Amino acid sequence: MNTQTGALLHQAHMTTIEALQSLDELLSANKKAPAMDDLLGRKLKQLSRVLRSEVESHFGFEENHLFKVFVEQGETGIVTMLTHEHRSILPLALQVADLAVAAAGSAFTDVTWTEFKDAGAELVEREIFHIQKEEMGLLAAISALVDPETDEALADTYRREVG
Ligand SMILES: [Fe+2]
Ligand SMILES: [Fe+2]
Repeated sequence: MNTQTGALLHQAHMTTIEALQSLDELLSANKKAPAMDDLLGRKLKQLSRVLRSEVESHFGFEENHLFKVFVEQGETGIVTMLTHEHRSILPLALQVADLAVAAAGSAFTDVTWTEFKDAGAELVEREIFHIQKEEMGLLAAISALVDPETDEALADTYRREVG
């Protein structure tokens, strides 16, 4: 059974994966700090927006609304694991988002590029792994554990709080 909540989460996961892949390409194409231009500046701002929305609103929805439904049904294992991963991704994502916005407003220096590259590569790895896990396990768990009324309510909350 497909759920509305699962579909909304899936959509956001795909947007994030796309942003992470484009980040990965940017990192591997530039051993040294790339020159700043309009296109790169726009790319970096877009990356920052997607990352912030993912780790602030999307993670927030999962933790504050969806995982609560799981815990009520005694499914604490998956909740503990995914929450733990959120904790390790969030500061890294905010760091990358901040560095991206700062660079878009001026340019990368050798120092900030190295910092961006290291944090970015680590983020790509952690977050893609996390999303893959949610795509395999979490969406199926929603189908199995969330009844249609709760699904409707969760989807409404998602649209309201995340967009
Ligand atoms: Fe997610
Ligand atoms: Fe998550």
